[in-house]
Amino acid sequence: MVEYDWRPELARKSLNRILPEVEKMFAAELQKAPHEWHKFKIRLHREWERLFIYLHQLYGWQYDFFYTLQRILHSLVQYWLERPVELKRLDEKRETDPHWFLSEKVVGGVLYVDLFSDNLAKLDDHISYFKKLGLTYLHLMPLFAVPKGDNDGGYAVSDYRAINPDIGTMEEVSKLAAALRDEGISLVLDFVFNHTSDEHIWAQKAKSGDPDFMAYYYTYPDRELPDQFQKYLRDIFPSVRKGSFTWCEEMKRWVWTTFNSFQWDLNYSNPEVFRAMAEEMFFLANQGIEVLRLDAVAFIWKRLGTNCENQPETHTIIRAFNAMTKIVAPCLLFKSEAIVHPDEVIQYIHLDECQLSYNPLLMALLWEALATREVKLLEYSMRNRYPTPAGCTWVNFIRCHDDIGWTFDDQDARNVGIDPVGHRKFLNKFYTGDYPGSYAKGVPFQFNADTGDVRISGTFSSLAGLEDAIEKQDNELIKQAVRRINLLRSIMVSIGGIPLLYIGDEWGMLNDYTYLTDPAIVNDSRWVHRSRKRWNAREDLTDQDTLEWRFFHEMVELFDLRKKLPALQNGGMEIIHTENPHLFGYIRAFKDQKILIINNFSEKPQKMDALHLSAYGVKRDVVNLINNEILPSGKDLVLNGHQSVWLDIS
Ligand code: GLC
Repeated sequence: MVEYDWRPELARKSLNRILPEVEKMFAAELQKAPHEWHKFKIRLHREWERLFIYLHQLYGWQYDFFYTLQRILHSLVQYWLERPVELKRLDEKRETDPHWFLSEKVVGGVLYVDLFSDNLAKLDDHISYFKKLGLTYLHLMPLFAVPKGDNDGGYAVSDYRAINPDIGTMEEVSKLAAALRDEGISLVLDFVFNHTSDEHIWAQKAKSGDPDFMAYYYTYPDRELPDQFQKYLRDIFPSVRKGSFTWCEEMKRWVWTTFNSFQWDLNYSNPEVFRAMAEEMFFLANQGIEVLRLDAVAFIWKRLGTNCENQPETHTIIRAFNAMTKIVAPCLLFKSEAIVHPDEVIQYIHLDECQLSYNPLLMALLWEALATREVKLLEYSMRNRYPTPAGCTWVNFIRCHDDIGWTFDDQDARNVGIDPVGHRKFLNKFYTGDYPGSYAKGVPFQFNADTGDVRISGTFSSLAGLEDAIEKQDNELIKQAVRRINLLRSIMVSIGGIPLLYIGDEWGMLNDYTYLTDPAIVNDSRWVHRSRKRWNAREDLTDQDTLEWRFFHEMVELFDLRKKLPALQNGGMEIIHTENPHLFGYIRAFKDQKILIINNFSEKPQKMDALHLSAYGVKRDVVNLINNEILPSGKDLVLNGHQSVWLDIS
């Protein structure tokens, strides 16, 4: 027998009790915009039931649950009232076209404001550069107020409503958002919601002994509970510190700090934290932010006896944020940053949770296939793990501000005859240049002496062999590195999802070792690929003989080509069997358009025979859209080393 679910009815009852009170409280403002308020209420009634159920799951057992509901509804109305008219208009536009971000026209870029243009004021001058590149989505790395010195590249936030004064002001952020919006570019920021810095006002109040704010964090008087938790936790930054707890002398208590000791994990089992962070989120949404990157999403709920990653309540919290967003700021999207096992990454992708997600598996396996020259693990994993729920998509990247971890599934590897442990060791050796024949100039990140585990830092070009080739002044090696770079770019742009360019890579940025002289960051090798050197916007690139010029223009051309091909919008990606261990192929299709994309991971020419091509739809002369060459019907396809072809088989 199905058990009676009383929650929908109680959801309705609570709303009927709370809403009139809230309406009374905001009566003066609400009377000014009765039509708008009506629309808000339609959304509220639509989302309330699920929001109630999520909140009940999280906080229903607490004696003051009704108070929690009241406070949350109050916040929803308050932040909706504060939402600027032009953003409410954007909300309506997006609601009539909710799949806008799945379009082939969407192309992303990500940058650090201080490294790119020193500050927000100067960034404004470079909107034309973003347009030239073809970006429609711009992610600015964390730019909030942070502690001086090491602040984990901005991920230790001291105030979500204030910008680091060296970078600018919040007013400049909203102005920039509006200017970008006018140019068809959506602004993306981080929502660093797992932790605050230990200088955040909440942490300061906790340090001063205020019990309400001590309850914002996980604090313990002795090692009893920390020791029990610790047994199951992994060290995220093992070369910096061991364990996930930090002694706070002011409080005389241990504080949960998953990442650095100055990053205090927020306690989401406290409904006040949930509400307070929801308000910070809506504050950001109201500045004109269209996508929030949910940072370190896997860690936000703790449960004794588990590794405290990817707990069910984590998903409930994001779904509750999602439901509230649909009420207050429906145009806001979430992008999940879950750099965990692929089985877990996919769990965050859902229309009711995160519509977007980084694709760390594709990223890692592209590098894996580049090193091995074989595509079996890439092909197997993508065939089984690429599909996302309808209306959601991947954000595909080759490099970002973080390291590369080999996150593939061990059983997937075994299924294609690869020993996962040995393979990760090989990849680490290969990418740190410690393997015979390696061209890569990666730098180890976070070596864990206990497990032997390590991750890889380094720029796209340096990992792909360009730095080594330039050092050796070897033109042939340079050409090879360029071909590798173009191969990975081609896949990022065509495989399905939003391609995300790490700004600087459009002109082949190499590793920058100056971080080694800065004591604040010397232990964090990720700074080798976070470089200020030569980070002006390169509007002056005119010498067509330079590599930089070619990199830049080829990137632009590839984005342009993508935008002309509806088949490259989200969906319709089918991995094919190329019957050649070096060729990774897939078909992209939408309506009448069909494109067969084949990528050669070997430096040697490789063949796909006519019979196979015909089985996948090559029935007549077809054109390679990348260079307009014709492949005559009935002929084998021969790809040059590291070549990528996009065959129009519509
Ligand atoms: C995310 C960020 C990373 C940061 C960590 C802690 O993984 O990408 O740079 O160190 O969160 O906030």
